[in-house]
Amino acid sequence: MKDERLLEELKTRLDIVDVISDYVELKRAGQNYKGLCPFHSEKTPSFMVSPDKQIFHCFGCGVGGNVIHFVIKYENLSFPESLRFLAKKAGIDLKEYRVQSGDDGLREKLLEIHAVAAQVFAENLKKSKTASSYLKKRGLTEETIHSFSLGYALKEWHHLSNYLKEKGFPRAALSQSGIVSSGEKGIYDTFRDRIMFPIVDLQGGIIAFGGRVMDESQPKYLNSPDTPLFKKGETLYGLAHAKDGVRKKGYAVIVEGYFDVIVCHHYGFTNAIAPLGTALTPGHLQRLKRFTKKAVLVFDGDEAGKAAAKRSVPILLEQGFTSKILLLPTDDDPDSFLRKNGEKRFADLVSGAVSPIDFVMAVSKGDRTEMVHEALRIISSAGDVIMKEELVRELSEKTGLRETILREEMEGRGKRPKGKAAITSSPTPSPRGFCYDDELLLLSAVIAFPEKLDHILQTVAMEEFSNPTVRRILEKLGTGGHGESFESILSSLGDEEKALVTKLTFHPGFDHEVVERNIEDCVRSMAERRSAEQRKQLHERIRQAEKKGDQDLLYALLKERQRLIKEAR
Ligand code: GTP
Ligand code: MN
Repeated sequence: MKDERLLEELKTRLDIVDVISDYVELKRAGQNYKGLCPFHSEKTPSFMVSPDKQIFHCFGCGVGGNVIHFVIKYENLSFPESLRFLAKKAGIDLKEYRVQSGDDGLREKLLEIHAVAAQVFAENLKKSKTASSYLKKRGLTEETIHSFSLGYALKEWHHLSNYLKEKGFPRAALSQSGIVSSGEKGIYDTFRDRIMFPIVDLQGGIIAFGGRVMDESQPKYLNSPDTPLFKKGETLYGLAHAKDGVRKKGYAVIVEGYFDVIVCHHYGFTNAIAPLGTALTPGHLQRLKRFTKKAVLVFDGDEAGKAAAKRSVPILLEQGFTSKILLLPTDDDPDSFLRKNGEKRFADLVSGAVSPIDFVMAVSKGDRTEMVHEALRIISSAGDVIMKEELVRELSEKTGLRETILREEMEGRGKRPKGKAAITSSPTPSPRGFCYDDELLLLSAVIAFPEKLDHILQTVAMEEFSNPTVRRILEKLGTGGHGESFESILSSLGDEEKALVTKLTFHPGFDHEVVERNIEDCVRSMAERRSAEQRKQLHERIRQAEKKGDQDLLYALLKERQRLIKEAR
C-alpha cells in the first residue's frame, strides 16, 4: 500500500510534539509534554503528548491518537486529506505517493478544473470592457483584482464547458465540479455574465466560485454548489488571503460579503474574511481557530444586521471566541463605508467595537429584566468557564446586579435535561480514579511491551476477556502480527479503542520494572476467576442432576469436579 509508505515517511520526518505545538502550548512534564486540551475547555492541563510513543491523550475528554488523528480532528479533515496536509508540512512531494483517497484522484481533477476555469475567467475579464469598468466603478485596482484572481464569466452557455471538454477533462468530473451544469441537452456553463470570485482553500487551491451579476437581476450572487471540494456552510471567503494578517493582528474581522472582504484588504484590513452569504456556523469558526480565537464581527446597522449579530454571538462564545461587535451606520457595509470615509474612520470603528454584553444592552428591546435575561442566555452559551465568569462579572458591573444573583439565574435557566451533560463541562476523570482490572492491566502490558502478547494469548484465551473494547484491541494486535508498527495498528482502531490505548500508554497502571510479575499476577487471577466460575457452573449442574435423579450424569459431573479441584492445586 502506498499509504503505508507515506505514513512511514511522515513518521520519520514529523515529530508529534512539533506538529501539536503549532496548535497547543506544550510544556515538558517528565518524559511527556502537557498542555490545555484543544478539544474541550479546561483550566488545568490534562492533554498529554508523548514524544517516545508519538501519541497524544486527553485525560479530560478522553480523546487520543497519533499525529494523524490529531490533524483529522483539529483541522476537520478526512484521513487522506490529513496525510496530504502533513506531507505538505513535512515537505514531502506527494507525486511520489499516490495517496489512496477512495476517489481515484477526483479531488485532484476537480482542483485542476477549477484552476483552468479561473484562468479562463481572468482572461475574459481582461477582454471585457463592461466587466472591467464595473470593477473599476466599484473602486477595485488592477492589483486587487489580480491578488484575488477575479474574473468574468461570458454571457454564453458553452464557452467554459466546451473549453474544458477540449482540454480533455472527463465529463463525470466536469459535472461534479459544479462549474458546469447538466441539463437535458447536455452540459452548460453554470456561471454566465457574472463577475467571478474564486474561493481558495488554505493550501491555495481554488475549490469553488462565487459570481455576481453586474445589474439588478437575480440572484445577485450565485455560489458553486457543494462538491467533494467545497462545503459552503464551512468555508470562509478570504481566509487564505487573510491568514497572515489574522496572525499578525491577533484577530479576524468578519464581514458579510465578497466585496467587503476585498475592499477591506485593499484598505489594509488584511484580516478580513466572510461567510459565503450564510450565517456564521461552528464549522466556520473551527477553521478560523487555527489562526485566532478573537474576532470582530461587522454587521450592517439595520434590523437584519442586528438580528444576524444576535444569532452569531452565541456561536462565537460556544466556540470559545473572544468577540466584539461592530454595527455600522444604517445603509452602510464595510465596502461602502471604507470608500466613503477611508481607513482611518473604519479603524476607529473597529477599535470601538463593543463586547457581547454591551451589544445586547444596546439592542435589546425589552425592559431591564428582559435585557438581563437575554444577556444571560448568551453568556450561558460560552464554552469556556473562565470566559463565562468574565462575562458574568461584566454584566454585573454594567447592571449593578450581584454576580451571585446573575449566576443563580443563569444556572436556573441554563439547566440541561437530565443525563445530557455537555461533554465540555463533564468532570475530569482523574487517572487515579480509573479502575485497572486484570484485563486492562494485561492490555496495558502489551501496549508497553508488545513482545509479551504471544505469551499472554497462549495463557489466556481471547474469550476470557470480558471487556469488549480490550478484546477488540487484542484481536487487532494479534492478527496485525508483530511486524506492524504501533502507529499503524492504532490507525486501524475505532475511537473508543484508540482512546483506551493512548490512556494506558500514559498511565500503564503498573511499574515497568515489575511488569513480568504483574502479567503473571493478572494471568493467575484471571485463571482463578475462570475456575471459580467453572466450579460455580458445575455446582449448579450437579444440583440439577441430583434433583432429576440422573445418576450417570451425577457421577460424570462429580468426577469433573474432582479433576478441577486437583487442577487448582
Ligand atoms: P454588493 O452588493 O456587491 O456590495 O454585495 P454585498 O456583499 O454588499 O451584498 P449583500 O450585503 O446583499 O450580501 C452579502 C453576501 O451575501 C454576499 O457577498 C453574498 O455572499 C451573499 N448573497 C447576497 N445575495 C445573494 C444571493 O442572491 N444569492 C446567494 N447565494 N448569496 C447572496
Ligand atoms: Mn456591498
